[in-house]
Amino acid sequence: MERRRELFGGRSAAILALAGSAIGLGNIWRFPYMVGQMGGAAFIILYLASCLLLSLPIFLAEAIIGHRTHAGTIGAMEQLAPGTKWKWLGLLTVLSPMVILSYYSVVGGWSIDYLWRSLTVGFHVDEVGAVSSAFGAFISKPWGPLVCHTLFLGACAGIVSAGIKSGIERFNKITMPLLFVLIVLIMVYSISLPGAGAGVDYLLKPDFSKITPSAIAAAMGQSFFSLSLGVGTILTYSSYIHRKENILVTGAGTVFFDLLFALIAGFAIMPAVFAAGIEPGAGPGLIFETLPFIFAKMGTTVPWVSSVVAVLFFVTIVFAAFTSAISMFEVGVAYLVEQKGLSRRRATLLIFAVTWLLGALCSLSFGPLSGVKIFGRTIFNFCDFLTSNFLMTFGGLLFVIFVGWKMDKAAVRDEFTHGGTARFNGAVFDVFWFLLRYIAPPAIVVIFLTNFVA
Ligand code: PHE
Repeated sequence: MERRRELFGGRSAAILALAGSAIGLGNIWRFPYMVGQMGGAAFIILYLASCLLLSLPIFLAEAIIGHRTHAGTIGAMEQLAPGTKWKWLGLLTVLSPMVILSYYSVVGGWSIDYLWRSLTVGFHVDEVGAVSSAFGAFISKPWGPLVCHTLFLGACAGIVSAGIKSGIERFNKITMPLLFVLIVLIMVYSISLPGAGAGVDYLLKPDFSKITPSAIAAAMGQSFFSLSLGVGTILTYSSYIHRKENILVTGAGTVFFDLLFALIAGFAIMPAVFAAGIEPGAGPGLIFETLPFIFAKMGTTVPWVSSVVAVLFFVTIVFAAFTSAISMFEVGVAYLVEQKGLSRRRATLLIFAVTWLLGALCSLSFGPLSGVKIFGRTIFNFCDFLTSNFLMTFGGLLFVIFVGWKMDKAAVRDEFTHGGTARFNGAVFDVFWFLLRYIAPPAIVVIFLTNFVA
C-alpha cells in the first residue's frame, strides 16, 4: 500500500532545505581555500561561470527526476525506467551520500570541538605552526574526535527522525537565515581589520593569467560539491516539493543562495587572512589551522571582539555542516522507509549505525589506524577521494544522461516550464536542453579525468 508522503510546506521551505543541503563545509571551508590556492578573483569568475552553465543544469536535471516521481532515488528510477539497469544508479546514489556523510561527520565533529574551545579556553598562540600542531595532535587522538563525531551524527539522526516537516524543514527554517546573518557579521568584522584591503582586492581584481585548465576543472569540481550534485540528495529533497511549486524557480533560488553564501564566506575569510599577513594558499588547513591563529592574533588588540567572532564563526560552520549532513542522511532513510517499509525511527537508527561505524574508522585513520591504507590512502582520504573524485561525478554524469537522453523530452519540458505555465518562451528550455545534452556530459568527463591527472 502506498504511504502518503510528507512534503515541504511551500516554496520558501523547499528553497531553504535545498540551500541547507548545498551550503555547508563546501562554502566555508573548501571554497575559500580553493580561491586562495587557485588565484583569487580569476577563480571566482570561473566558479560563477561553472555554477550557471554547468551545475545549474545538472541540479535541475536531478531535481526534475525527484519532483516528477515524488519518490526516493531507487523508486524514481523504477518509475521512470522500469525493469532497466537504471535502478543501479538509484542504488549508487543511496550508498554514496552515506560514504560522504561518514567522513563529513568527522569534520563536523572537529568543528564542534573548535566551537567548544572558542567558548571555553579560546585560542592563544603566537605562530601559525603552533595551531597546526595542536590541530594535528587533536585529530590523531582516538577519543576526543570520536566523541565529537558521535555527537554530530547523533544530532543529525535526531533531526531526521523527527520527519520532513517537523524535523528537516523546521531545522532549516531556523538555521538558514541565522547562518546568513552570522556570516555577514563575520564579513563586516573581517573587512574592518587593519590591512584587510589587500584581501578585498585579491577577491575583486582578477589576474587573468590564473585562468588555466586545472583552475577551470577545479572550479567545476567545486561547484559540483557545493551544490551537492550527483549523490541523490537534490533528487530526494526535490521529491518532497509539492507539485504546484515551480522547480525552475526553486532550483535557481537555491543556486543563487549557495553562490551568495560562498562569496560572502570568501569575503569573511580572505581579508582576515591578509590582515594577519598569512599566505592565502594555505590549503585545506585554512579554517582549522590558520583562522584560530588569526583569532588569537587579533585578540591582542581587541580581545573580546575576536573571541566573540571566533565563537560565531565556529557556530556557523557547525550549523552549516548540520544542514548538509541531514540531507545526506535523508537519502538512505527515504530508501529504507519507501522501499523496505521500515519506520522512520528504525531507518534512521540503521543509517546512523552504518555511517557511525565508517565514520569512526575514518576518524581513527588519523591516529591508531593511520597505517591502514586502501590504494595507498588512509581510510578518511580514501572515502573523500572515492566520493569527491569518483562517485559524485559519475552519479552526476548518469543523471544528466538519464534526463537528457533517456527521459521523455515532453516530460522534462513539462517539469521545466511548470506544465507550460512559466512566463518565458521555449528558448530558455532550449538553452537548458542544449547544455544538458551536449555540454554537461563532456564537461563532467573532463572534471573526472583531471582529478586523476592532477
Ligand atoms: N554541498 C555540501 C557542502 O557544500 C556538501 C554535500 C555534498 C552535501 C553532497 C550533500 C551531498 O558542504
